[in-house]
Parts: sequence; C-alpha cells; structure tokens
Amino acid sequence: MAKDWKTSYKERLVTANEAVVKGIKSGNNLVFGHAAAAPIRISKALYDNREYFKDLKVFHMLFFGTAWHLRPEMKDHLTPVLNFLEGNSRPGFDEKWVQFMPCHFHQVPDLFRLGYFPVDVAIVQVSEPDENGYCSFGISNDYTKAAADNAKVVIAEVNKQMPYIGGDNFIHVSDIDYIVEVDEPLIEIPCPPIGETEMAIGKNCAALINDGATLQLGIGAIPDAVLQCLKNHKDLGIHTEMFTDGVMHMLKSGVINGKKKTLNPEKVITTLISGSKELYEFLDHNPTIEAYPVDYTNDPFIIAQNDNMVSINSCIEVDLMGQVASESIGHRQFSGSGGQVDYLRGATRAKNGISILAFPSTAKKGAESRIQPLLKEGATVTSMRNDVDYMVTEYGIAHLRGKTLKERAEALKNIAHPNFRPMLEKAIKERFYKE
Ligand code: COA
Repeated sequence: MAKDWKTSYKERLVTANEAVVKGIKSGNNLVFGHAAAAPIRISKALYDNREYFKDLKVFHMLFFGTAWHLRPEMKDHLTPVLNFLEGNSRPGFDEKWVQFMPCHFHQVPDLFRLGYFPVDVAIVQVSEPDENGYCSFGISNDYTKAAADNAKVVIAEVNKQMPYIGGDNFIHVSDIDYIVEVDEPLIEIPCPPIGETEMAIGKNCAALINDGATLQLGIGAIPDAVLQCLKNHKDLGIHTEMFTDGVMHMLKSGVINGKKKTLNPEKVITTLISGSKELYEFLDHNPTIEAYPVDYTNDPFIIAQNDNMVSINSCIEVDLMGQVASESIGHRQFSGSGGQVDYLRGATRAKNGISILAFPSTAKKGAESRIQPLLKEGATVTSMRNDVDYMVTEYGIAHLRGKTLKERAEALKNIAHPNFRPMLEKAIKERFYKE
C-alpha cells in the first residue's frame, strides 16, 4: 500500500545543512526559486558547507534577501548562471564571475525541459501541505515549478508563512526529496514613492486604457501610478507576469473584477508576486488569484487570447527608430528582458490589444535624455522596433506602430524632455531631411 503522505513528509525532514550535503554533489546544476520566494536558508547552508563543493552551476533570476551563494568566497565553488540581474548579482557580473543567459521569460522552463540547463537539483520555497499533501509554490511559480518538475532531486523550504495560492501551482510531498521546515516572514518589497513625473506618465497611460481592458503591469512607481489613475475605470481584468500591492488595492475597491475577461474570466492570472505582508496575507487561499507557470502566463499566444489586452512596461533608453534598451545601460547588463517582449507581442496580437512602454523622459536626475538619436554603444536591444506600439513619457504619447522611421522620430521627439528636443531635432534633420 502507498505510504500516507504524512509519513513521507516526516521521513524527508532534514536541516538545511543536511539538505545540501545529502542532496547536492560537486558538478551539479542547481536551480534556485525566484524573487521573494528565493531559498535563503539553503543559500546560507551552501555557503557554510562550501568546502564540500566544486564546479556547481546555479541558475536563478531575481534573488530577494541575502544571497549567500553570491558572496566572493563562493567563486571557487560555483558559477552563477543568471537570466536577470539585480543588486545582489550585479557586482559579480561586473567582475566577470556571474554568467548571463539571455532568453525571454516564457522560454526559461524550456531551458530545463529541453536540456539547455539540465536540472540536477531544484531548490524551492513552498507552503505547508494541504490535507492531500500538496504544497503550493505560493508567490513564485514562474520557472520554479518547471525546475522542480524536471529535477533529479528537489529540496524544499516548507515555510509556514508562504501563502497557499491555487492554479497550476502545486507539488506533492512525495515529489520532494528533502524538506526543511521554516517559519519566517517572506521578504517584503515596498512600493516606491510616486512623484509628479510618474503621476503624469500614469495619466497618459490611463488615457489609452478603456473600461473592460485586461492589464499586465510590471513592478515599480510607474505601474503603481498607472493604477492610481484608473480608479474611475470599470470592469478591469488582470493577466500578468507580476502581481503587486497596487493590483490588490484595485481588486479590493472593485475596479478590477475580471468580468469582461475573455480568458479565465473573473480570475486574476499571475506567475510571480512580490509586495507587502498585507499582500501575501490577502493571497492566502484566495480563490480569485491563480498562479500558472511562466510559459502559460507569458506565452504570447495565450496573452493574445485576452481581448482588449494592455501591457505596460518600462525601459532604459529608446532610439529615434523605436529600438528599445530595457536591460542594459550601454555595455553594462543591468537587469534582463524578463517578459517585456512576451507581452509586447502577445498584447498587440490580441483583439483590440495594445502595448505601452512607459518611462520618464530623462535619467540621472534630468541630466540625460532617455530618447536618443542612437542607443549607447554596446546597448542590448530588448524590444525591436518592429514590436513596439505605444511609447509614453510625462510629456505625452507616441504611437509608433504603422509609422515610418521619419514619423517615429518626430513622434518620439515630441514626448522627449523639452531641454533635449533641439538635440533630437538636429539629429532628425540630418537623417531625414535634404540640405
Ligand atoms: N542612461 C543612463 N542611466 C540610466 C538610463 C539611461 N538612459 N536609464 C536609466 N538609467 C539608470 C537610472 O539612473 C538608475 O540608476 P540608479 O539606480 O543609480 O538611480 C538605473 O538606471 C535604473 O533606472 P530606473 O529607470 O530607475 O529603473 P527601474 O527600476 O524603473 O527599472 C527597467 C526600469 C527598464 C530597468 C526595468 O523595468 C526592467 O528591467 N525592464 C526589463 C524587464 C521587463 O520589462 N519586464 C516586464 C515585466 S515585469
């Protein structure tokens, strides 16, 4: 007779140190869970036991909290192979230790499934099991579930404080090899302050959004400002990569109700959540919220099934043709492409869908225009000019789809900061007008 899952659970209980020493071998490929669900205790145990290991490769995207495995002392023991950089990982990348593997977010599960990054050990953080022995991946399904599904060994931090969120978001206790019990709050990501610039951008974006639209929003001050400007809208829906506090407030107020969604009506569909304790508590056993793997939420063909889809993302720099750098500042890799192109393509394929790239007109406290004649040398083009639709700054809206290069350049100049318009005008004259 099959074992009762509670017996299996007890048999798999170990300390974090035991989990790494028993579960991981030199030469293994490891995948760490993501963002605010990163397995911080196992990262620390790996650091403490580093002398046992060499030639490890560790894949992850965002790692919120102390990333012990990215400390310089780990250089002789592992190579990080990352698809998105943040504060924890940028120093290692700048020192040429951290490696970067580019791909769209929806393609990450295929790295594991198709063997581009075969997974020896998936190291994840999940909720306590339900009455049937299923743990929820909670706030991070994205590539994490795919890593666990394709791993030879699964190590799970089972955290009492991880919310239990439905969807296709579960792993059974019998599929976990080592369980480390945890009772610690999740990392909270505070809402950034919203200034005048963000509010002006929010208003311009809101002008493009109709009642009944389904939205995808990223994280940060601009998406939060957009949401604040949608308070008088009706029947909005959410099909998104990232779910944050701003969306929770709009759900509570009833502006977001999903009633007009053409795919998964009345449900909020997401793959990755980060925000406050209030948000995490709101999500726990909330039947409205469903988390799915990123190759569902971010598949452009799935996104496109949402009529009236609107995606809103941001960027670092755009040239006058509409080529967009969103992940690098010149040569320097700053973040990753995430789901930007997934949503640009999905939203513009949807019936009545649009995509918006919203950004402040300047960077470095106004010293530099984000709209430039040419991208900085070495910049990565995250979104190509053929895919770009609407661009929004605090100065207005430029609709690039269906426009010639000359028309695009004029439209972008018109939403640039006035201080930089003469410089852009000169470049446009040289490029598009005869002497
Ligand atoms: N030239 C020089 N520096 C620039 C710059 C430019 N054109 N644009 C931005 N920077 C600098 C800023 O000054 C800032 O530096 P600081 O941290 O020292 O102040 C830094 O780069 C970050 O810029 P900011 O615009 O504040 O970043 P953000 O936190 O709002 O993130 C992106 C913007 C584009 C980096 C981020 O949205 C991203 O990574 N996007 C790609 C992924 C994506 O779109 N995913 C979609 C689904 S969530």
